[in-house]
Amino acid sequence: MIDAGLIADATRADGADPLRGFRDRFQLRGGLIYLDGNSLGALPTVTASRLTRVIAEEWGEGLITSWLDAEWSTAPQRVGDKIARLLGAAPGEIIAADSTSVNIFKALTAALSLRPGRNTLLSEATNFPTDVYMMQGIEAFSRGRVKAVTAGPDAVLEALDDDVAVLLLTQVHYKSGRVRDMAKVTRKAHDAGALVVWDLSHSAGAIPVDLNGALADFAVGCGYKFLNGGPGAPAYLFAAARHQAATPVLSGWFGHARPFAFEETYEPAPGIGRFLCGTPPVLGLAALEAGVDLMLEADMAEVQRKSLALGELFMAGMEPLCARYGFMLVSERDPALRGSQVAYAHPQGYQIIQALREFDVIADFRAPDVLRFGLTPLYLRYRDIVETVERLEQVCATKAWARPEFQVRAAVT
Ligand SMILES: Cc1ncc(COP(=O)(O)O)c(C=O)c1O
Repeated sequence: MIDAGLIADATRADGADPLRGFRDRFQLRGGLIYLDGNSLGALPTVTASRLTRVIAEEWGEGLITSWLDAEWSTAPQRVGDKIARLLGAAPGEIIAADSTSVNIFKALTAALSLRPGRNTLLSEATNFPTDVYMMQGIEAFSRGRVKAVTAGPDAVLEALDDDVAVLLLTQVHYKSGRVRDMAKVTRKAHDAGALVVWDLSHSAGAIPVDLNGALADFAVGCGYKFLNGGPGAPAYLFAAARHQAATPVLSGWFGHARPFAFEETYEPAPGIGRFLCGTPPVLGLAALEAGVDLMLEADMAEVQRKSLALGELFMAGMEPLCARYGFMLVSERDPALRGSQVAYAHPQGYQIIQALREFDVIADFRAPDVLRFGLTPLYLRYRDIVETVERLEQVCATKAWARPEFQVRAAVT
């Protein structure tokens, strides 16, 4: 049973929440508590009608004329400029395109080309795997000239030597939610002669980011998490204006200076446009734009304040469960070091997350043993957090997680 006082406190906090109006702007089934917005953000209610318009009118009626008439051809720049407002970048410094993995490749190779004579790509060993995989792909393609090197989270900055061309780090760690100080790390890398590529997948729409204030070089990130752009939404790439002369390795026709001149030789477009590769995914961009427009209505400082308050409430509620059932806090207690999620380790983490779905709570599991609870201030209520703890208690007290159907690992977790 949930403590009546806790519910009353949470209900009061919900009533006073300046962001409370946003919840109704998402499609969320009553009863469901969705703590996975850091994997796939919820659907903004406006997205379906926007997509219907793009499909029925712009595609259905306008057909190919919509590349100009409906401004499809400049959508990557337009959506990029909107994302720039969330991330402290200037217009013309962000493009919405491709996946984060592909953008990591583009940013790493561009940064490498700006550091001739240096051949090491450095990252954290426990970074999101795709980041390190992309470095390893570049190493293999270069036949070993470029080295992909990783170090432990606390040792990575010490590994900045005079061969490191690029440091690739995720600002908010995907598992623990630990936040790195972008300005401080960037300064340290610059002092060592390296450039930095920041992965902002768990930052954009979750915490205030100031790319130019931190003198950032390149950044990338996902559109489908806190930006609510939908499954497989286009990602984004930031290249500081001072680095936009780098010649892209993915030299596709959409990044050409004159794509419709069909010239025989590649010549990169001036500015951020050169980081485009192929034809923009218009439907995906339309859904992403709806999510970004909604995010732009929120005050990011308020979003972060609520995210931290939700996290505090959750950790306080979880304390007795840690003692009783063996959950171990993985996230940082210090709010300055915590992104918009709280993670716990537990040997039965996978089974518990599966069983929680029966109790109408969706969170996610990250191997080998991490339960990850994403906190999305636009559509989560304080009351949801209190209820999550209660439902988690029920899962543990009744050992619901031990049922045979929760023991088999699914292909996607
Ligand atoms: C930190 C981080 N980087 C990159 C990715 C992968 O992005 P994409 O699938 O767009 O390549 C993810 C996906 O969850 C992620 O969490």
